[in-house]
Amino acid sequence: MELLSRQVLCCTPLPQLHLKKILTNISWDDQVILLTKTVKHPIIAEKPISITYQIAFMKKIIEFLTEAQIEIHDDIYDTHCQVLLKDKLKNSYHYKHYKVSDDDSSIISLKENSNLISDGTTGLHTWEASVILSEWCMQNAESLFDKNILELGSGAGLVGILTYKLCQPKYMCMSDCHEAVLGLLEQNVSINQDDDDECLNLAHGNAIMQMSKRNTTKRLGIIKLPWEEVEDFPSKTVPYPDLVVAADVVYDSSIFQPLIGAFKYFLNAKRKCEIILVNTIRNTNTIDLFSKYLEESNLAILKINQPEPLHFYWPSNLNTIIYKISNKQQI
Ligand SMILES: C[S@@+](CC[C@H](N)C(=O)[O-])C[C@H]1O[C@@H](n2cnc3c(N)ncnc32)[C@H](O)[C@@H]1O
Repeated sequence: MELLSRQVLCCTPLPQLHLKKILTNISWDDQVILLTKTVKHPIIAEKPISITYQIAFMKKIIEFLTEAQIEIHDDIYDTHCQVLLKDKLKNSYHYKHYKVSDDDSSIISLKENSNLISDGTTGLHTWEASVILSEWCMQNAESLFDKNILELGSGAGLVGILTYKLCQPKYMCMSDCHEAVLGLLEQNVSINQDDDDECLNLAHGNAIMQMSKRNTTKRLGIIKLPWEEVEDFPSKTVPYPDLVVAADVVYDSSIFQPLIGAFKYFLNAKRKCEIILVNTIRNTNTIDLFSKYLEESNLAILKINQPEPLHFYWPSNLNTIIYKISNKQQI
């Protein structure tokens, strides 16, 4: 039930839910527990996940129980009606909750737009590549310890917020170019602020927000950083990174050169800087073109294995490629 709870809180696609094991022979009382662990979880009352997802989940449960000829609890029908009613009132934002361990304090709640593209950007939604990058960060937490990390094209903020909270970097800086995305990032940082996090005075330039763990030097920052203007990186406020990370930023060939230019800028700023880039392959021609530009960029490029899903879930047929990019001398 715990696994199912974690999957539903972050809206894992329905075919991947571990439902059969739980629903086969489910008792009357366990049907109520199932609801309190999923769509009636207290965190969903406060910060609702997608209503469309809740409706589809309830429908799937009712269909399964009906087919298995298990008597359905009244609470299941009531909850189904409630989510259908909420559908009439829904707005374009919902939440997702990423629970990376059984301990509730590890939940990361992200507000995001229900549409994949809105306000002319793809950044108001959490894409699977950033879930994979988050898994990579969790599994490589030791190598992120005390590092200065910069994320390019952060979107809703899963990777940066998770890394700041759970991987102990020295400075985790998230960045994006789009005003609405930067506004959402700021909200998501606030939503996930712990009691020992305090907001710092903003320095200047393109720094939007900085937060620090009380009595430590660990920091989280948000900056506006279009790749085309990478030379405006606010190095007086944010340290040059030891590691640059990015997820799902390779989809539009017109921004390949500025993106690779940004990689080179940070690799030149610190010789030992490395880049971890997770790409979703939707169109092989696009990825081939990007790979060609990368090969021509005179950098050391290594394809690394996708991590096993230990803390997060993603579709098993998701086609991704992960690059580790560094200066040539380092290999
Ligand atoms: C597909 S979204 C990925 C967001 C997030 N990394 C994720 O995987 O959920 C691409 C992100 O790159 C940002 N982006 C696109 N072009 C950019 C540019 N030229 N400079 C900086 N950020 C850019 C967008 O605003 C958006 O947030």
